[in-house]
Amino acid sequence: MTNPTTSRGWYAREEFVADIHSEKILVLDFGSQTTQLIARRVREARVYCEIHPCTMPLAEVKAFSPKGVILSGGPASVYAEGAPTLDPGVLQLGVPVLGICYGMQIITHLLGGVVARGERREYGPAKMTVGSTVGPFRELDTAEPHQVWMSHGDRIEKMPAGFTPLAFTGNSPVAAMGDPARRIYGVQFHPEVAHTPEGAAMLAAFVLGECGCRPIWTMHNFVEATVADLQTRLAGKKVICALSGGVDSSVVALLLHRAIGENLTSIFVDNGVLRAGEVSEVAGVFRDAFGVNLRVVDAAGEFLGRLKGVTDPEQKRRIIGHAFIEIFEAEAKRIGQAGGNVDFLAQGTLYPDVIESVSFKGPSAVIKSHHNVGGLPEKMQLKLVEPLRELFKDECREVGRELGLPETIVSRQPFPGPGLAIRIMGEVTKKRLATLREADAIVQEEMRAADLYHKVWQSFAVLVPVKTVGVMGDERTYEDVIALRIVDSVDAMTADWSRVPHELLAKLSSRIINEVQGVNRVVLDISSKPPATIEWE
Ligand code: XMP
Repeated sequence: MTNPTTSRGWYAREEFVADIHSEKILVLDFGSQTTQLIARRVREARVYCEIHPCTMPLAEVKAFSPKGVILSGGPASVYAEGAPTLDPGVLQLGVPVLGICYGMQIITHLLGGVVARGERREYGPAKMTVGSTVGPFRELDTAEPHQVWMSHGDRIEKMPAGFTPLAFTGNSPVAAMGDPARRIYGVQFHPEVAHTPEGAAMLAAFVLGECGCRPIWTMHNFVEATVADLQTRLAGKKVICALSGGVDSSVVALLLHRAIGENLTSIFVDNGVLRAGEVSEVAGVFRDAFGVNLRVVDAAGEFLGRLKGVTDPEQKRRIIGHAFIEIFEAEAKRIGQAGGNVDFLAQGTLYPDVIESVSFKGPSAVIKSHHNVGGLPEKMQLKLVEPLRELFKDECREVGRELGLPETIVSRQPFPGPGLAIRIMGEVTKKRLATLREADAIVQEEMRAADLYHKVWQSFAVLVPVKTVGVMGDERTYEDVIALRIVDSVDAMTADWSRVPHELLAKLSSRIINEVQGVNRVVLDISSKPPATIEWE
C-alpha cells in the first residue's frame, strides 16, 4: 500500500491498537462511480472507513460514531426530482465533514447556499490555486497551483453563511470552500482519483489532521486483531474452507490456520480444469510450507465425465458449480464422520461484494455475479465465517504478504472458478485440455519473463473451435488455433486489450506453434470490454 503523505511523519510509527475499528470515517454514497476510491484512499491513510448509502438514518450514523464524514460525488443535480440527499443532522454532529463534488453541492443546498446549473460541464484536469490551508488543504502549498480533476455540471453560486472560498480554478471561483468553525468543507474536484496527484494527501490530511484519527488501520494490526477475534469466536469449533489457489481463499486459509490451527480443514478440489502445475503448487505451499491441514480431492475424472459432450458455456458453469458443491459437501461429511462435527464454513468474501449501495441505482450498486461457492452455506447448514469482509483486494494482498504467502499467489491474476473449461470453446476433452494447458503455461511464462504478468489484468490462452490449414516442412497441416487474450483493467467491469510489445507476441506465437503439438496458428484478440467480455465464454 502506498503512503500518500510523509511530510508530517504520520506513518513513522507502527502503533498497535487492538480495536482497529475504534477510529473510523463514514463515507456516504451519493452514487458516484468513484465512491470506492474514496474509501480506498482513506484506508491507505491507515484509517478504517465504511461506505453506506446517503440515506443512512441519523440514528445509525450516530451509532456508527464516526470521527469524520465524507460525502461522495454523484450523477444527480441537487434540484432534480428525487435527487439524493442526507439527513441535515449529519452536518450538526460536530465531527468534520468533507463533501466531494455532489457532496459539496448538497452541503450548499442544505445549509442555505445556492447551486447553479453550470453553463457547460467542466470535465478534465484543471489548475487550482489554494488560498487557505485548512481542512483537506492543511499540507498544501499556496504558492504553486495544484493539478486537480474536475467532473461536474453544477457549480456553487452562493456559499452558505459562514463559508469562505478556499481555492479557485480558471472555471470555478469556488473550487473548494470551508467553514473552519463548524469544520465543514467542500471540494468541487475529485481528490480520490489518480488524476488529482495530491488528492490522496488531501484526504489523508482530512482524516488524520482534521478528524484526528490515528493511523492504526494497518494490515499488521488487522492480522493481530483478527486472529485474536477468531480465536475467541471459534474456540473449540471446526471450520472448513474451500481453497481455490486464488489470493482470497488462500488468505482466508492462512488467517484461520494461524488462529485455530488443526481445527481448520482446507479442501482443495482438483476439478480437472486447472492450469498446469496448480495442484502441486497449492499443496506445496499450504501443506508443506505452512503445515495447513489440507485435503486435496482428485475429482478430475468426475468433472470431466459430467462435462462430456457439453458445449454451452452456461451449462459448463452450472455443471462445474453443482459438482463442486456435491464434492465439497461429501468431503465435509467425511470430516464430520471422522469425529469432528463441522460448525463453520470460511469464505473469502471481500468488501466490494458486501457494499450494498443504495437507495437509487448508481454504478456502485452493481454486485458481482460470480460466486464460486454460492449456495453452499444454506445447503450445508453451516455458519459462515468471512474474515475478509472488511477488506479491499489490495488490503487482502497486503494481509497475504503479512502472513508470508508467496508472491506467486499474492499477486496472481484472477482465474475463473470454471477454469479452463470456459477457455475451451466447444467440448472439454482431455486432449483439448492438454493442448490449452501447454499453451497457457507458455503465456504465463513469457508474460513473467517480459515483466508484464503483474502489469496487465489477465493474460491467457483460449482454444478456438476451428481447425485451419497450415504448412509444416512439405506437409499440409490442419490443426487447432490458439487465441491470446491479454487485457488491462482496474476492476474487470471494463477492459481494453493490452498493447504488449510485438517482440513478445512474436515469441508467444513461435513458441506455442513449435512446442504445442496440434497447434499451427496463433491469433490475438483485440476486443475491448464492452462490447466483448474478458473471457470468451
Ligand atoms: P468477463 O468475461 O465477464 O470476466 O468479462 C470478468 C472477470 O470475471 C472472471 N470470470 C469468472 N470468474 N467464475 C469466476 O469465478 C466465472 O464463471 C467467471 N466468468 C468470468 C474473468 O476471468 C474476469 O476476471
